[in-house]
Amino acid sequence: MKAVVYHGPKDVQVDDRPKPRIEKPEDIVLKITRTAICGSDLHLYHGNVKGMEPGQILGHEFAGIVEQAGERVEEVKEGDRVVIPFNINCGRCWYCRHGFWSQCDRSNPKGELGAVFGYGQTLGGYDGGQAEYVRVPYANTVPLKIPENLSEEQVLFLSDVLCTGYYGADMASVQPGDDVAVFGAGPVGYFAVVSAFLRGAARVFSIDHWPSRLDKTAKVGAEPINFDQEDPVGRIRQETNGKGAICIDAVGYEAVGHHLHDNSMNPAYVPQDSLQVINWIAQAAKKFSTVGVPGVYLAEYANFPLGQFFQRELQIKMGQCTVKKYNEQLLHLIEVGRIDPTQLISHRMKLDEATKAYDLFDKKGEATKIVMTP
Ligand SMILES: NC(=O)c1ccc[n+]([C@@H]2O[C@H](COP(=O)([O-])OP(=O)(O)OC[C@H]3O[C@@H](n4cnc5c(N)ncnc54)[C@H](O)[C@@H]3O)[C@@H](O)[C@H]2O)c1
Ligand SMILES: [Zn+2]
Ligand SMILES: [Zn+2]
Repeated sequence: MKAVVYHGPKDVQVDDRPKPRIEKPEDIVLKITRTAICGSDLHLYHGNVKGMEPGQILGHEFAGIVEQAGERVEEVKEGDRVVIPFNINCGRCWYCRHGFWSQCDRSNPKGELGAVFGYGQTLGGYDGGQAEYVRVPYANTVPLKIPENLSEEQVLFLSDVLCTGYYGADMASVQPGDDVAVFGAGPVGYFAVVSAFLRGAARVFSIDHWPSRLDKTAKVGAEPINFDQEDPVGRIRQETNGKGAICIDAVGYEAVGHHLHDNSMNPAYVPQDSLQVINWIAQAAKKFSTVGVPGVYLAEYANFPLGQFFQRELQIKMGQCTVKKYNEQLLHLIEVGRIDPTQLISHRMKLDEATKAYDLFDKKGEATKIVMTP
């Protein structure tokens, strides 16, 4: 079968690989019909995630049709259409039983965190779903069935970015009447904006520097702030009469810095500033509020603005989204037409074009979300 394989930094290729088979009685083999590239895949693509080795099949956002089911699978059957959360959950360990799905104690024998599809050895070494087929373990727990009236494309982002955007708004505890600032207008930021409004936000500011991405969040009601043109902290404080906003970091450690002094540089190539967003939030957040951080941070981050967090009595909640906590509720919002996730898609491509698709999504700009079909 065809599969998108990591060969090294900025080197992703479509290779021929053996079709997966049932290995355990609770496995299914899924025939993939839609798969997407995530901002988290770009961390791998940039070669700075430990445990990622050449040969890994990529992809943790996918939906498809059950091709084959193991003998102990009861919850889905051959022919069912399903969408799969990016994190792998056994459904029976203490963490799964208490709804802390991302920290499943059994799915990842290779590390402390729960496993994730297509994310290297540290997160379990499972093959990903940017392929024609994938093996899905714990099939009595993991899959979410797709109702007949919805297409795979409509529900694809329940695998990750829609749920993760909602997770950001939930961690930040967005309440009716809040003014909210969402840093990053990529797919996670886009859905954090949508989710903040679903939870009753009065105004939502969307901060990025890609006009095409800010246009998308503006279409769902956000007020765009381009950080190449103005200082987001000053603008948020001014718009909220000095109070500040409930803040969500949908960027993470690959943030680019604030380079107001040099607009001549292509923003894609200015040096990264890992704590840029956290430093802005430390000043722009409403005092006593909780900051929601779905953006990914890796181990080595010095100069965290602890002093400002202490003085302004901010709290912070962060981590991998517990997809299963939200995907059914959000599915229903799609079903009744309250959310249309397909509006985010800018490119539909063949899996064969994955090398080009990664390059495009990495350049951001016009590519707001890329969906591939095997
Ligand atoms: N917690 C989870 O479970 C989870 C799940 C999915 C994705 N993520 C993470 O969420 C983050 C966003 O994912 P995505 O798919 O939207 O990625 P993306 O790379 O497409 O989007 C990130 C956006 O942030 C913008 N940005 C960069 N520096 C900025 C700054 N200083 N201020 C404001 N915006 C800035 C970029 O221009 C880009 O548009 C990534 O770190 C990703 O790994 C986490
Ligand atoms: Zn993801
Ligand atoms: Zn578990």
